[in-house]
Amino acid sequence: MALNHGTIERNSILLLVLILVVVAIGGIIEIVPLFFIKSTIEKVEGMRPYTPLELSGRDIYIREGCYNCHSQMVRPLRAEVERYGHYSLAAESMYDHPFQWGSKRTGPDLARVGGKYSDEWHRLHMAKPTSVVPESVMPGYPFLAERPLDLRHIDKLLWAHSVAGVPYTDEMIENAEADARAQLDPFSDGYDGLVARYGEKVNIRDFDGNTAELTELDALIAYLQMMGTLVDFSVYDAAANSR
Ligand code: HEC
Repeated sequence: MALNHGTIERNSILLLVLILVVVAIGGIIEIVPLFFIKSTIEKVEGMRPYTPLELSGRDIYIREGCYNCHSQMVRPLRAEVERYGHYSLAAESMYDHPFQWGSKRTGPDLARVGGKYSDEWHRLHMAKPTSVVPESVMPGYPFLAERPLDLRHIDKLLWAHSVAGVPYTDEMIENAEADARAQLDPFSDGYDGLVARYGEKVNIRDFDGNTAELTELDALIAYLQMMGTLVDFSVYDAAANSR
């Protein structure tokens, strides 16, 4: 045994290969179970797949590179929790493909921005951030209010997410375009279908202040106003405290 060890130590390539084998075994033992344990992500009440309009807004968020300046993850540190609210749960990004945790905060974290401001504030802010936050260095995105939302591939967008594991049903995929339009008008015929598929808590209203057209700004504000609002933390924390 001692002799063998000497051979290994004198042969650097052999030593390297054996180190890799040992590290790989350790890695596999740690990582592989995570793929099979169902509880890797704790299920939380309230999480639902994004509505077609929110999902389109999310696509615009990615297209415009908002993640270059904004994170979507409140870390469990006191300063963050006091500023933004409850720290983010793994389950809150379970339907995010790809996730938007981000690594840079030129602007604030957006994980809990939903409901923080009015739609009108977002309209002004997206058009010209300095109109509501004079010291802002965020660029304006005034063109979003002008551009009609492209709905031609919205069913395929939902389908692609369903392939990645988001539980969109065939019915949701078939009605994607109708649901996107229905989310702008609480008095439309599509209202009942949208609520049946995505729940009562969905924000249903015109987001960009222009009822004549479904714009990219509608989708983006619908997405922002939903962020961090799906899990009801008053229920969640009460349950945790009573345990
Ligand atoms: C160059 C960096 C930068 C980019 C890119 C950027 N932002 Fe910002 N954002 C900021 C900064 C800085 C602030 C803080 C000042 C302000 O409110 O404008 C901010 C603030 C915000 C706020 C208000 C957050 C709060 O809690 O007060 C929202 C919402 C927001 N941004 C959304 C977006 C969206 C959506 C995009 C992409 C379309 C985007 N931002 C792109 C830098 C950026």
